[in-house]
Amino acid sequence: MKIGVLCSGGDAPGMNPCLRAIVRAGEKYGDQVVGIRHGYEGLLNEEFWGGEDRAINVRDVSGLTNRGGAFLNCSRSKRFSTDEGRVRAVEVLEKYRFDALLTIGGNGTLSGARDLATVWKGQIIGLPGTIDNDLLGTDMTIGFQTAIQTGVEAVDKLRDTAGSHDMMFLVEVMGRYCGDLATHIALASGCELVETRETPTVISDIVAKLNRFKSLGKRSIIMVVAEGDEFGGAVPIMEELRANGSPYEMRTVILGHVQRGGTPAPGDRILATKLGCYAVDALHQGETGKMAGEIAGQLTLTPLEEVVVGRRDGAVELTKLIERVSV
Ligand code: F6P
Repeated sequence: MKIGVLCSGGDAPGMNPCLRAIVRAGEKYGDQVVGIRHGYEGLLNEEFWGGEDRAINVRDVSGLTNRGGAFLNCSRSKRFSTDEGRVRAVEVLEKYRFDALLTIGGNGTLSGARDLATVWKGQIIGLPGTIDNDLLGTDMTIGFQTAIQTGVEAVDKLRDTAGSHDMMFLVEVMGRYCGDLATHIALASGCELVETRETPTVISDIVAKLNRFKSLGKRSIIMVVAEGDEFGGAVPIMEELRANGSPYEMRTVILGHVQRGGTPAPGDRILATKLGCYAVDALHQGETGKMAGEIAGQLTLTPLEEVVVGRRDGAVELTKLIERVSV
């Protein structure tokens, strides 16, 4: 079987061990795994890893287990989202006689795979690669656990300086549609406050909590803010808190793309390897139009239609847990 593989959208730590697993699982079946560089855009441009039509071999992916970034490169392709773009993609897939395509990425990547499946006769399986953990059809996305670790390391450092200066930091983390990164980072690093789009951000309530913390003798405060919070992020929240009498001196830190980098955490390597192998098995069982995921410890295939229909909401119970333990 000739399998094309691409990474699309924002990169996520774990995409590389996923590719390694796909190549090695494919080799056992006698497959030819061809890397398509720069996601769907690279597909349209016939941009293949290692030159035209050269398969990736098992040695090419040596050492990818612990390598961050995307070996195949990533991109967001506007062209692919048009009808003409998809016609061109089919042209390329047929020109090079691909039997199947594996796409690793987030909601945009999987929506693209769903649309491509309507016009191309080959098999398509998606894999959940995004730090945001905002996908339906899997409990965790590849990259999420590393991004939590990166966020926790950053907050631990900020806590040191917040403690030295008796001040408050508002740390904005990624997660456009899902507050999971924020809640997990906040809980794991002992933050006092977290704001996400899943719960209302009410400035007067936050000021009341800050006054209580102050009266209890708390000297430093860390609030984690999800970039997708309905208030618009850490900066507008800080400005409103200032205007409404926050008792702490405040600074904002926006972690941004630092969360997408770094060596993948063990949990992401394991998930990526399981799902990479499972996706290749699924192709050999004739499956198509689905995403490989893991739900309650079971590897699962969910129709792409059902995956891209919405986003997974963040876990509100973690916000409540943070409230319970911050005094
Ligand atoms: O989808 C992953 C993600 O990292 C989001 O958390 C973030 O909002 C977005 O990508 C940033 O995308 P870009 O790198 O295109 O600005």
